Amino acid sequence: MKPTEQLAALRAQALRGGGERRIEQQHAKGKMTARERLDLLLDEGSFTEIDRFVQARPNELVGETEQVMGDGVVTGFGRIDGRLVYVFAQDFTVFGGSLAEAHAAKIVKLMDLAVRNGAPIVGLNDSGGARIQEGVVSLAGYADVFLRNVLASGVVPQLSAIMGPCAGGAVYSPAITDLVVMVRDTSYMFVTGPDVVKTVTHEDVTSEELGGAEVHATKSGVAHFEADDEVQCLLLLRSLIGYLPSNNLDPAPVVPTTDPADRADPELDSIVPASPTKPYDMKDVIRRVVDDGGMLEVHERWAQNIICAFARLDGRTVGIVAQQPAVLAGVLDIDASTKAARFVRFCDALNIPLVTFVDVPGFLPGTGQEHGGIIRNGAKLLYAYAEATVPKLTVITRKAYGGAYDVMSSKHIRGDMNLAWPSAEIAVMGPEGAVNILYRDEIAAAADKDAKRAELVKAYVERFANPYVAASRGYLDDVIEPHETRPRLIAALRSLAGKRDTNPRRKHGNIPL
Ligand code: HXC
Repeated sequence: MKPTEQLAALRAQALRGGGERRIEQQHAKGKMTARERLDLLLDEGSFTEIDRFVQARPNELVGETEQVMGDGVVTGFGRIDGRLVYVFAQDFTVFGGSLAEAHAAKIVKLMDLAVRNGAPIVGLNDSGGARIQEGVVSLAGYADVFLRNVLASGVVPQLSAIMGPCAGGAVYSPAITDLVVMVRDTSYMFVTGPDVVKTVTHEDVTSEELGGAEVHATKSGVAHFEADDEVQCLLLLRSLIGYLPSNNLDPAPVVPTTDPADRADPELDSIVPASPTKPYDMKDVIRRVVDDGGMLEVHERWAQNIICAFARLDGRTVGIVAQQPAVLAGVLDIDASTKAARFVRFCDALNIPLVTFVDVPGFLPGTGQEHGGIIRNGAKLLYAYAEATVPKLTVITRKAYGGAYDVMSSKHIRGDMNLAWPSAEIAVMGPEGAVNILYRDEIAAAADKDAKRAELVKAYVERFANPYVAASRGYLDDVIEPHETRPRLIAALRSLAGKRDTNPRRKHGNIPL
């Protein structure tokens, strides 16, 4: 065979992965092959494969006859909207996509290249876990990948798609990455599977119930996104990359918009209900402010009392953090705090400015929260905001009570532009609670207790529950009409384009994990 013919034959062999039968099995499960996925993820014709000739390192269990080119993972680089990304896609048709020495070495090489060249890493996971035949060498391979995940964190974005099984210690690589997308019905993640669960806890549970997309997107918070199918998953990864800078030194791509920077939205003036206890949908506020009403929510169905989303202002990516008064009155609880803290740190690491909309009645009281560690977990969000050095813009739409006022990107923890709507109430606590503590005796002595309480509440609201006390101290930079929000935020963002701020030199801080 001529050398060129041999090359063509080997290339064709690599494309066949684990063979026709296994490819059919993969399709029968509603799953694509690794190469089909890469075709959809990347700009057409942009994929350059690396290490296609790599094979499993032979040992007493994996003989030469079982060798399959590529060793169960397709690696390389390509483009998403013209921008460089490094990708690996595990090939379930080869040893169930299981990770072994050579397989891991391919991923490690790719990650090192991505960090060196400042480009995102996208991993398409579909694997039976550590390759049983290779024993501890597989575990070593995983550890090599975990180390790269940690060293790449905050340097380049790391995105994981879970498109099949992901079990055992294998879950920790995606867990360290920045954003995890799971495909409904065909993917699952768990540390120990249903059989072990049955043995240890006697619980009967299916893979889906234990670690499917629904569970991780709504209960555990492990998945930031869920997709109906693989196509949606891959398109979502493309959209996400569009919001993100390639690395911690480059800016995020600017997406030109026809949405005017000076657009005022009169609807915002009536969006906050007159009654302070009546809910409204903060997503309406966000959509009316950002470019073209576009936002991509992270953890959309987990800890819905806080909203974290990517959006654009003036064509530039911003990270939105906002209370959702329509869910649990927008209270800060354990899940909301950890959800937002991780998002804030991600944005800060990659220099994505933060825009925070505040309507928070405080931290959630009760034994459940206290015993679960609301102190430790709430402190994460405080820490994350305080250490963030990106441009930080804050709009208080209604309540900003107690410690939650401080936490939510206040002036005191280096907020750059702190604005409030006239409906803002900034106080140590809500009027009813405050009056009951301050005037307990007067209320008890009054002939008409309700009337007395109402009178005191009214006086308290006039005195404290407004933005002007904070503004008079300079804790707010301005009180604005709601319809002015977009132009004011954009003007602030433009002024902060050259912001330089640093934290003290140290090895690292000690966030209360
Ligand atoms: C080697 C594996 C494999 C593995 C699957 N295969 N998992 N080969 N090592 N870990 C092979 C199968 O032998 C089979 O080969 C092919 O992949 C497809 O597997 P099936 O079982 O036919 O597929 P399916 O019915 O879809 O089941 C998929 C599965 C199951 C649920 C993933 O294969 C499974 O339970 N595998 C073992 C999972 C596991 O326990 N892994 C170790 C986890 S612990 P053929 O030749 O028949 O096509 C771990 C520790 C990591 O990973 C620690 C990191 C620190």
